[in-house]
Amino acid sequence: MEAIQELYQEIIIDHSNCPRNEGKIENPTHIAEGYNATCGDELTISLLVKNEIIEDIKFQAQGCSISRASGSMLTEKIRGMSFNGALKFSNNLRKVLSNDFSETFDENEMGDLVALLGIKQFPMRIKCATLAWHTFENALKNITKNIVN
Ligand code: FES
Repeated sequence: MEAIQELYQEIIIDHSNCPRNEGKIENPTHIAEGYNATCGDELTISLLVKNEIIEDIKFQAQGCSISRASGSMLTEKIRGMSFNGALKFSNNLRKVLSNDFSETFDENEMGDLVALLGIKQFPMRIKCATLAWHTFENALKNITKNIVN
């Protein structure tokens, strides 16, 4: 395995084993549940948005290590962002992960999220990586349930 792939794998294992911001916000302003239709795994995102800023965000996942790690990384990245900025960031990241080359990211600004780019080599696992992001975007749009096919 290449060194960079090993690094990506270590980051994913770390977030999966020690997830950041795991749980549910007690009185969320936004919440959504997402399901991966392929495997049945589920993930919930809850948010507290005040004055257009995402003040708090938590996730709960019953799924594989990639979906848990992705949810953990999402919460770290998104907390403190503006509503519109977070929505745009999430949309762009999903496009990058889905090999839509209309969007690019500066890898130096991605932090741990760069590890998700390694998933692109495994097309069957891309839905695992994008489940949290789909669910997050739906939460912002007040779509409370979504199925990723
Ligand atoms: Fe189900 Fe990854 S195997 S989300």
